[in-house]
Amino acid sequence: MPHTVRLRVVDNDDFGAAAADVVQDLLPAHRPRLGIATGSTPMPLYAELARRAHAGEIELGNAVLIALDEYVGLGAHDRRSYAAYVRTEVGAPLGVAPGNILVPDGLAEDPEAEAAAYECRIEEIGGVDVQIAGIGSNGHLAFNEPGSPLDSVTRVVGLSQQTRSDNARFFDSPADVPHYAITQGLATIRRARTVVLLARGPGKAAALAAALTGPVDGTVPASALQRHPYVTVVADRSAAAELTAADDRAERQS
Ligand code: PGA
Repeated sequence: MPHTVRLRVVDNDDFGAAAADVVQDLLPAHRPRLGIATGSTPMPLYAELARRAHAGEIELGNAVLIALDEYVGLGAHDRRSYAAYVRTEVGAPLGVAPGNILVPDGLAEDPEAEAAAYECRIEEIGGVDVQIAGIGSNGHLAFNEPGSPLDSVTRVVGLSQQTRSDNARFFDSPADVPHYAITQGLATIRRARTVVLLARGPGKAAALAAALTGPVDGTVPASALQRHPYVTVVADRSAAAELTAADDRAERQS
C-alpha cells in the first residue's frame, strides 16, 4: 500500500465515531467544503457529525456540501435522488442552508452540459477540502465504473449491472434503478485536498484490497486514490480482511 494512504481499522460499532474524528481533524475551521458520498456506508459518520453539531462540539452550519454524483432522471424532490439524500441525511441535520449544497441536476435537459457545468462549479468554489468516498463492490469510486479513465472529469456515465443491482434496495423494483448518472470523474475526485475513503462489510473486502494494494488501473477505479497525496481509509474489520498482514502492520493506526 502506498505510504500516502493512512489506514484505520475499527470495529463496526466504532465506525461512525472513528470516521467523524478523521473528518473533523481534516476540516478547515472557516467555511469547509465537504465532499459528500451517498449510500449506506457513510450513514454512521453523518449521524455522528449531526450528533456532535447538535451537542455544540462542532460547527458545520457554514459548510458547503458538494455531492459526488446524481442519477440522471431523478429530480431533487424525488426521495431516491442523491440531492434528497444530501439534503436530509447531511444538510438539514448539520444546519447547512440549501443554497450551500451542490448536487448535479438529474433532470437537466442536457445532462452532458450539466456535468461540464458541475465540474466548473466545483472549481469556482475553490475545490473540495475533504472528500468523503465509498467504494463499490466492483471497485467503483462515485459512479466511475470499471473501465473509467484515470483522467476522467465530471460526465454522464452508464451504470454497470452490478451497481444497479447493489443499489436496487433503495428502489421499489430493480427495474426502477436509473441506467445513467452524472458523476465527478477520477481526476475531479483526485483534486480534493484530502480524501476519506470508507468501507464497511465483507462485500467490500476484495474491492478495497484491489484498490489499495493492486495496480493503479481504471479497471479498479478506486485505485486512482493511490495517486492522491493524502488519503485516509476507515474500514471495519470485515472490509479490511483482505488487506495483507504486512500492510496492516505498517499502516494500522488503531
Ligand atoms: P454503499 O455504496 O455505501 O451503499 O455500499 C458505496 C458505493 O457504491 O460507492
